Amino acid sequence: MGFRSFLKTLDESGELTHISREVSPEYEMAGIIEALGEKPVYFENVKDSSFPVVAGFVSSKEIIARALNLKKAHLLHNLSSALELPLPPQIVEKGECQEVVEKEVDLTKLPIMRYTNKDGGKYIASAVSIVRDPEWGRNMSFHRLMLIGKNRFVARIVEDRGTDTALKKAGGELDIAVCIGNSTAVLLAAATSLPKGVDELGMANALEPTELVKCKTINLEVPRNCEFVLEGRITRETAAEGPFLDTTGTIDKIRQQPVIEIKCITHREKPVYQTILPGRHEHQFLMGMPKEPTIFNKVNEVCKCTDVYVTPGGCSWLHAVVQIKKQDSEDGKKAIAAAFEGHKSLKHCIIVDDDIDIYDPNDVEWAVATRFQADKNIVIVPNQPGSSLDPSGDLTEGKKARTCKMGLDATIPAGKTDKSFMKERYRKVDLDRFL
Ligand SMILES: Cc1cc2nc3c(=O)[nH]c(=O)nc-3n(C[C@H](O)[C@H](O)[C@H](O)COP(=O)(O)O)c2cc1C
Repeated sequence: MGFRSFLKTLDESGELTHISREVSPEYEMAGIIEALGEKPVYFENVKDSSFPVVAGFVSSKEIIARALNLKKAHLLHNLSSALELPLPPQIVEKGECQEVVEKEVDLTKLPIMRYTNKDGGKYIASAVSIVRDPEWGRNMSFHRLMLIGKNRFVARIVEDRGTDTALKKAGGELDIAVCIGNSTAVLLAAATSLPKGVDELGMANALEPTELVKCKTINLEVPRNCEFVLEGRITRETAAEGPFLDTTGTIDKIRQQPVIEIKCITHREKPVYQTILPGRHEHQFLMGMPKEPTIFNKVNEVCKCTDVYVTPGGCSWLHAVVQIKKQDSEDGKKAIAAAFEGHKSLKHCIIVDDDIDIYDPNDVEWAVATRFQADKNIVIVPNQPGSSLDPSGDLTEGKKARTCKMGLDATIPAGKTDKSFMKERYRKVDLDRFL
């Protein structure tokens, strides 16, 4: 369901906390969102802005599944098939995101937040950016945007990803559309790296119908039902970007990054600004979830994989628990190698049987405690290409990060099917009958 419909659903079911007192976008809103455990919140009255702000729409797997009208157990399969079979989205004439067109740009009117006192400036952390690669076509991704003027941002554009390669091919300047207030389908697709030439908006459209509308001043298309669109151009100019919180919750350094100039803002009649907390659940689920289907697909090439969880404790990036239906003594070790293939930044993984609840850290630890022997069931692969986000790795400037990878095969040892490996479960009761 679109961002607006989901907002309405949460409101009607009483799950949206309304805050009517004036709040400051500088530190205060971030503190409130965290204190609420990132549950959905609606700030009605934001200091120095006429726009309300919401947060918490992608802060758990349950809420992500609900926004997509899915059961949590079906998320992985749906993401996996949307990845493999994107559907070209339709372009329509009119979009709600263009009900108001402002050519006099003043970004300071937006409720752009300052999250911590280490931030290099005010930041948009929830913005989905769309560009067109001259060779491969449309590309959608996230880029955090630091406000540096009434019509200017400096953007963090990671090297060798979709936006960066498109920018280089275009000769150093490129049109960009920045969308704020997006459906969960668009957010998940933007966080996914699809093969070259495959449109992430096609993945969003496969997750739920996502019609597009043409921008007013640039040759790009955007989801018609988002809340705000900032139309602009990535320039050759660079400026200092950062520091800012990364997905690990640690502070990323300052870098010289491209400046974006915004020339037109379009929005709904009464738009709602969507924010997320960097380095917390929303950022982390968006980072980790798109890796679950890629791990799932790779592990399924070598054995029967039944579920994957890129765990929040591992920053939703560095750790995964992989559930398999073991059929062969080597399945656990094969699954470890395949999981590292499916997500190149993965550092540690644990393979468990299909009776283990991979969403319960205690159950996973129980499997390690009762089914795993370190001298037989561990795989250690030193000096591998790793994640630049892991401060414990070798992060020598100018070189790809290096790390040591580890996989734990915590499945029942082959041939040991006796009851001593099974957790005895009590009979399930309907508690309401007894209270
Ligand atoms: C919440 C969130 C914030 C992100 N911030 C940035 C960012 O500031 N810069 C960046 O280049 N990538 C960022 N990423 C990662 C990209 O969005 C991600 O790598 C994207 O899938 C790249 O897709 P592409 O390979 O098709 O370009 C972020 C991802 C998420 C989920």
